[in-house]
Amino acid sequence: MAQPQQSAGAEAEQPPLRVGMVGYAFMGAAHSQGWRTVGRVFDLPRRPVLAAVCGRDAAAVRAAADRHGWAAAETDWRALIARDDVDLVDICTPGDSHAEIAVAALAAGKHVLCEKPLANTVEEAEAMVRAAEEARERGQLAMVGFNYRRVPATALARRMVAEGRLGRLRHVRVTYLQDWLVDPEFPLTWRLRKEHAGSGSLGDLGAHIVDLAQYVAGEQLSGVSALTETFVRERPLAEAVKGLSAAATGGTGQVTVDDAALFTARFPSGALASFEATRYATGRKNALRLELNGERGSLAFDLERLNELSYHDGTESPAHAGFRRILVTEPEHPYLDAWWPPGHGLGYEHTFVHQARDLVHAIAEGRQPDPSFADGLQVQRVLAAVEESAEKNSVYTPIAV
Ligand SMILES: NC(=O)c1ccc[n+]([C@@H]2O[C@H](COP(=O)([O-])OP(=O)(O)OC[C@H]3O[C@@H](n4cnc5c(N)ncnc54)[C@H](O)[C@@H]3O)[C@@H](O)[C@H]2O)c1
Repeated sequence: MAQPQQSAGAEAEQPPLRVGMVGYAFMGAAHSQGWRTVGRVFDLPRRPVLAAVCGRDAAAVRAAADRHGWAAAETDWRALIARDDVDLVDICTPGDSHAEIAVAALAAGKHVLCEKPLANTVEEAEAMVRAAEEARERGQLAMVGFNYRRVPATALARRMVAEGRLGRLRHVRVTYLQDWLVDPEFPLTWRLRKEHAGSGSLGDLGAHIVDLAQYVAGEQLSGVSALTETFVRERPLAEAVKGLSAAATGGTGQVTVDDAALFTARFPSGALASFEATRYATGRKNALRLELNGERGSLAFDLERLNELSYHDGTESPAHAGFRRILVTEPEHPYLDAWWPPGHGLGYEHTFVHQARDLVHAIAEGRQPDPSFADGLQVQRVLAAVEESAEKNSVYTPIAV
């Protein structure tokens, strides 16, 4: 992980970074936590200011602004990106609006943070990359929000792989299991319609695990063989939506995305990978699990125990070798020098604090933040290859470069 150049007392050397956020529900609340907290924990070269938040309902967005600490409220994202007191636009809306908002915000001279998946299609993601490359020449930077890279244990896993502790990788095994769709009466929210979400479990959970697997392994997938399925094809129409929950109205509608996506894949190094993304894993709430097996050792991570990393050092004598638990709370571990004493663990929301911290440093130092829009496009190409393979009876499908 690129370490920012920390300089104690550097705060206020540069002007504040004024943030305007679009969308204030699940991710909007999480990003608000990140922007509010980051400057209180980390030394930053620019101080984030929660300048304005945007929704579509005037009363609801004003209430969200007050709850989450935003100074102003807007009801049209075009007005938000036109504001002189906004330097960075943070996009926390469903995928159908990512491309339009990001391209317009970059054209308006703003930096951009965009939630994952970068877009709903490869074509939209390509347009976003073109806009980001042009903007970069003007000094504006763009990043996509794959926050699971910012769990200290996953960042440590990447560091250990890069140090060669696992040797040549043979297997990368990743699953992302949730269960909020098990009930066939669960309503038809935007996540279940292709025109809003692009795809289902694939773009939602699969995008995360493709990015995380590539980030930890340090290389990009070259091809996939896939199966997808939609188990429940018709659901009650949705009324109020909150986070992953929703209330039903009368009538039903079609589910137009996948419920589950399973795929195997190859890395150019020869390592094999397997992925499973589903919202039907009864009893599993947010079980993102990653295991890597190399010639010299193995690593295993489970998001439901996110302060821990399991490590097997295969070079030790078999007499006493075995998986051991690294409690990832030491100041030597990624991000942890600014937090609590060892053993006082972190949680889900801290990934958004770390995301804000990394982005602020990159902008202040004028360097490209990771993951870039180009990285987001590459993940989109993997998702497209998965869909193509699944449509063709799982035929092995190379990832477009
Ligand atoms: N990083 C993660 O762990 C993670 C988790 C969940 C969702 N996401 C991603 O975050 C994005 C948003 O998901 P969510 O769960 O927050 O959805 P959500 O339904 O909870 O919230 C969406 C928000 O966008 C607003 N919105 C929609 N269209 C708008 C428009 N045209 N103008 C202004 N506001 C608009 C809605 O009013 C709402 O506030 C998606 O891309 C999703 O894939 C990421």
